[in-house]
Amino acid sequence: MKANELKFSDIDRLIVDNVEQGEFWVHRDLYRDPAVFELEMKYIFERNWVFVGLDSQAPNPNDYFTTWIGRQPIIVARDKQGKLGAFINSCSHKGARIAHHRDGNAKQWVCSYHGWAFDTAGACIYIKDQDAGCYAEPFNKLDHNLKKVKFGQYRGFLFASLSDDVPSLDEHLGDAKKMLDLVWDQGPEGIEAIPGVSSYTYNANWKMQVENCIDAYHLTSCHPSFMNIVSRRKAGESRNKQVKSIDFNVMDVVKGGTACFPRGHAVIYATNPLENERGMFVHRDEAVARCGETKTKWMLATRNLTIYPNVQFAENASLQMRVIRPLSVDKTEMTIYCIGAKGESDAAREIRIRQYEDFFNTSGLATPDDTIAYEDCQFGFRAKALDWLQGTARGMTGYHTGPDELSQEIGIQPDSGFMGAMGAWDETVYFGGYRAWKQFIKDGLEADGLL
Ligand code: FES
Ligand SMILES: [Fe+2]
Repeated sequence: MKANELKFSDIDRLIVDNVEQGEFWVHRDLYRDPAVFELEMKYIFERNWVFVGLDSQAPNPNDYFTTWIGRQPIIVARDKQGKLGAFINSCSHKGARIAHHRDGNAKQWVCSYHGWAFDTAGACIYIKDQDAGCYAEPFNKLDHNLKKVKFGQYRGFLFASLSDDVPSLDEHLGDAKKMLDLVWDQGPEGIEAIPGVSSYTYNANWKMQVENCIDAYHLTSCHPSFMNIVSRRKAGESRNKQVKSIDFNVMDVVKGGTACFPRGHAVIYATNPLENERGMFVHRDEAVARCGETKTKWMLATRNLTIYPNVQFAENASLQMRVIRPLSVDKTEMTIYCIGAKGESDAAREIRIRQYEDFFNTSGLATPDDTIAYEDCQFGFRAKALDWLQGTARGMTGYHTGPDELSQEIGIQPDSGFMGAMGAWDETVYFGGYRAWKQFIKDGLEADGLL
């Protein structure tokens, strides 16, 4: 079916949300129907706040970086006054890409096709031959500047929206902001992307990544090689003494929880018995003096956070930022960064980077396991004889609405959650994302008069 032929009733039937009766089911078409993908891009990515980067990616005047909102190419730039903004990366003249690089510093961008120039505030500052008088008045009256997009910032986290018809960024993030605080406050001046970004693609739907980050169920079965290596290191069988990565065998009994926030954001978290092996632990005393014992405990905790729809902060072995870019219904691009506190010591940073390389990086022990698992799922989705997944049932007996003891300690008021030992963690943490998914598409269709 084509996207413009899908009705909301077709979308509505793809998710059965009947939690009172212990049922929440997701249809496989969510991951394999190109028409569904079209609606997702239009209403979830291109009419919503989308994460575009960290302020540290453009720290100085005239710094910029390029990214995407859904399928649309974007430049995020700091102008010569130091103000951040976002623009469509397309020349007003004949549409050419203006900024070619992943990042850089430029007082102006000169379009490589016909030489029009734009400053880092997006203003068109030169049109070749305009002085020769060959343009008529209607052209001269046009706005030639780069197309600005709505831009928002929470602390150093940068967001943009192609639509002006979105709630405030504050409302969009809601209490998930407090989980972002646990990331940002790891240093007195916040966090930054450590140089060394990696990108890769996998041949599966973008939501496989959204779910994997908050999927504690897969850890022990999908990453046995990593777990075995950690065990062998502990047993003294490795000469590599410097990497102390997270041990899921220890974590399995740790108490923690999951939480869903409005608009699709979700988190899984657990206290960390191995917090002294974290890079941030080097500066624990400073963190306690600045943020207090409780907040520091939760900053040192393991915590995987999704800010829907496209950014994740995975914090267990180290701290990884993952930016998700859907390319098609069955292909996704990931861009990943190791994150560290600004100004932290070499000792802290070395621990972060070594742990990051060990577990998270494209060459790490975890990422290939996960991406192969996504591709195996997408392979299985070819089986049209099968309709419904059974991947949203674990933990239904412990599902609750509102906050619980742990979320209250952290200071968040989620819509729903689960609390217990990590080994019993749930799949109900996906409910918030699916509910938001349906709501975004419904709101979009309604706004377009297609409901
Ligand atoms: S396309 Fe940019 S100047 Fe012609
Ligand atoms: Fe994984």
